[in-house]
Amino acid sequence: MPRTTLITDIASLVTNDPAQGDGTPLGLMTDAAVVIEGETVAWVGPAAKAPSADETYDAAGRAAIPGFVDSHSHLVFAGDRTQEFNARMSGRAYEAGGIRTTVAATRAATDATLEANLTHYLEEALRQGTTTFETKSGYGLNTEDESRALRIAARHTDEVTFLGAHIVSPDYAEDPAAYVDLVTGEMLDACAPHARWIDVFCEKGAFDGDQARAILTAGKAKGLHPRIHANQLSYGPGVQLAVELDAASADHCTHLTDADVDALAQGNTVATLLPGAEFSTRAEWPDARRLLDAGATVALSTDCNPGSSFTSSVPFCIALAVRDMGMTPDEALWSATAGGAAALRRTDVGRVTVGARADLALLNAPSHVHLAYRPGVPLVSEVWRKGTRVA
Ligand code: NIG
Ligand code: FE
Repeated sequence: MPRTTLITDIASLVTNDPAQGDGTPLGLMTDAAVVIEGETVAWVGPAAKAPSADETYDAAGRAAIPGFVDSHSHLVFAGDRTQEFNARMSGRAYEAGGIRTTVAATRAATDATLEANLTHYLEEALRQGTTTFETKSGYGLNTEDESRALRIAARHTDEVTFLGAHIVSPDYAEDPAAYVDLVTGEMLDACAPHARWIDVFCEKGAFDGDQARAILTAGKAKGLHPRIHANQLSYGPGVQLAVELDAASADHCTHLTDADVDALAQGNTVATLLPGAEFSTRAEWPDARRLLDAGATVALSTDCNPGSSFTSSVPFCIALAVRDMGMTPDEALWSATAGGAAALRRTDVGRVTVGARADLALLNAPSHVHLAYRPGVPLVSEVWRKGTRVA
């Protein structure tokens, strides 16, 4: 029998199961308890009725939430872009081309440096409650460095994304078509065994709709599932393409036409919003309210990367989404947990229900609402991942 742990005296528990508790999408239970058996949740219910377990953990009237599912990050990189950030805060605009700085630093770094960096940001995220994360290549932009990034990422997560089509490699500046051939040919062959997903930055200065379609279609033929950086810096074809190709997620969604919103509302593709990017590039906020009112599924993630969004903090993103994007605290919490799981087409994470992976965080607060109400305060106090207390 695997070891059991009872977490009891939880003042407010977000389960993300509408059949539980208050019947809202959060399935909020008060005075609750959770039993973990091995790596999974074995029991959820009122603290007064909790069964006994091998060990008991007293939440002492705090709130518990599912561990965050950060479905969008770029964590295999070296160096930083402090100068570029400084220039932006003095009025310069963010451009896709800044990615080249990180490509040069990443290519020059050893495997050990890249892995140490990745581990550092993952531990940072875990302490802030992230128990599932996706991460991408995209700072190698040649076959060797892209496949190296994916191999390193795959040691730390199952949610690995091949983003050879981040921008046209500087080695192919004069011949973007030849770079698309490389990404869909030799590079894809080398990278597909290490990844689950394929992504394209569909944007002016990166890849247009036709190129993005060719790249994602080639990836699908090799068994990868598509997701797209879509409509971040300008209006464009990315969102429609995501829905057309049944991508799990269209990420950013900052510039949307009514037709884009309708497509997301009717399709199977999650709209993943990344407010850290708008914060760090001083850009216009994505309109979460418009997407939610239309019926789209919305996820919230960090986009952690050294250029456009150098935060690993999902609580920070929740606070931004509530303050500036029209989300309620309940919606933002759902989007950062169950929404992230939907963006990764997962049902085993992002919820605290019997049979789910035992990933949860305790907050130094009586309710999840405090994540937005007390911005910038490190409220995550304990974290369980796969049933083990890790932070
Ligand atoms: O999601 N938009 C494209 N890629 C990243 C930025 C990467 C960078 O600036 O280094 C993003 O914002
Ligand atoms: Fe990104």
